[in-house]
Amino acid sequence: MPIRELPTKPYTDQKSGTAGLRKKVAVFQQPHYLENFLQSIFDVEASLKGKTLIIGGDGRYHNREAIYTAIAMAAGNGIAKVIVGQGGILSTPAASNLIRVHNAAGGLLFTASHNPAGPDGDFGIKFNIAGGGQAPEALTGKLYEVSRQITRYRIFEGANVDLDRRGSQQLGDTLIDVVDSVDDYARLQQSLFDFDRIRDWFKRGGRITFDAMHAVTGPYARRILVEQLGAPESSVINAMPLEDFGGGHPDPNLIYARHLHDLALSPDAPDLIAASDGDGDRNMILGRGLFISPGDSLAMLAAHLDKLPGYKGGLKGLARSMPTCRAVDVVAKALKVECFETPTGWKFFCNLLDAGRLTLCGEESFGTSSSHTREKDGLWAVLAWLNVVATTGLSVQQIASQHWARHGRHYYVRHDYDELPVASANTVVDTLRKALPALVGVTHGDWTITQADEFGYTDPVDGSVATGQGLRIVFGDAARIILRLSGTGTEGATIRLYLERYETAADKLAWTTTDALAPIAAIADKLVRINELTGRKGPSVVT
Ligand code: G1P
Ligand code: ZN
Repeated sequence: MPIRELPTKPYTDQKSGTAGLRKKVAVFQQPHYLENFLQSIFDVEASLKGKTLIIGGDGRYHNREAIYTAIAMAAGNGIAKVIVGQGGILSTPAASNLIRVHNAAGGLLFTASHNPAGPDGDFGIKFNIAGGGQAPEALTGKLYEVSRQITRYRIFEGANVDLDRRGSQQLGDTLIDVVDSVDDYARLQQSLFDFDRIRDWFKRGGRITFDAMHAVTGPYARRILVEQLGAPESSVINAMPLEDFGGGHPDPNLIYARHLHDLALSPDAPDLIAASDGDGDRNMILGRGLFISPGDSLAMLAAHLDKLPGYKGGLKGLARSMPTCRAVDVVAKALKVECFETPTGWKFFCNLLDAGRLTLCGEESFGTSSSHTREKDGLWAVLAWLNVVATTGLSVQQIASQHWARHGRHYYVRHDYDELPVASANTVVDTLRKALPALVGVTHGDWTITQADEFGYTDPVDGSVATGQGLRIVFGDAARIILRLSGTGTEGATIRLYLERYETAADKLAWTTTDALAPIAAIADKLVRINELTGRKGPSVVT
């Protein structure tokens, strides 16, 4: 048998962050680095043996090598069947769906999401469990522990798998099935949305521009938007996936996809403008002349979801991550459904989705999805918007104005301070944490602080507890200032500062976000003192 057990030495830094293990490519290229982490997964999840495992990645630099290793180690660890996307390609939501469709015991997803790719860029791995969701905290904690003691790994030596040929191949006792990367995902979307209606909307002249940002969604968007829904070929731009994402930063927001904002403001703007990120789980939505913030997008989709075929049975519940603006809470109240506030990171939605308590959820970081899968789903959000526009006959702009007139408007912005020295980032957080107890009752301008604490979460389904999930300063329903450290960066520390302001009066609904949030930003400056404590002049990125 070519299955061998080879000696290795542990690394001490294989600690998962908000979404899996993410490091520089060079870190992953160290001898046995990936093997160690994979073996930790096979050791901790012994129940994978004899079962089906899904493998795929976002196509970034190092994807193929990692996937060959993963397949050989799956065969070395007694996996009965590996289903892998052709060419090693699977978007994150497509991989989550395949786990569900094939009743697989789990999945290995190679991605660093929107982080830049290439030899000097980032790489990453996420382990998703049966049901399609990301490994919960308890499991990633165990992986970290095991990875620090690992002494050997098991691999099928000399494996020669053809990743580009669809169909079955045998590797010892393990069946390797190379499948089309898009088929099952496209079928799923077709079951949720009114494709006839959307097709008709395109026929009547409706126009979309979808930017795949040279990342994984190109083939998915082409198949669904162009081949199945009849949008013109030119509707999907940057559709060719590239190993280095064309040198770009496939993080669809107002910084890295500024050109889409400019397009939205141009005289010949299409009706809907959208983009997704490196691995296809994020989405950005713009209408003619208007950017829809992710928190608004979540709330507006919630308000219209019952019009979409896959959701006619009614809404079970809604959820947002803590720093996401509270627009969806207002809709939940109007619809009389539960609304959950979870820590940052998609994994926290999964128990609620599995328990059937949630239909739609989202994060401020351009993530939206529903109970149809267990990851956020970029193209899903785009199709949902298309379906709402086609069904209501309203423009994106009209949908937004009507929504704000009825529910009020949450102005929202996130400030990122990237690559700070860890000590300096910790000083900011520690200083504010200490100051919190004295803040309640203090008035700043028109607003009084009603709550100032550190967010902790007890999972309503399994009772698991997550502490230290961000500091929040709440001014009743009127405003919030949130501070937390990023868990996905690969260099130094990143501070995220989130500012939110809620207005309901008719004459306060059409301000610019910058104007509306200026007074909140001034208060945050005084209370959080990031510039003063870090020596920075301002945020590195504003989204
Ligand atoms: C960021 C986002 C978070 C998202 C995660 C993975 O994590 O803030 O909402 O779930 O990326 O896409 P962070 O770097 O803030 O820990
Ligand atoms: Zn992503």
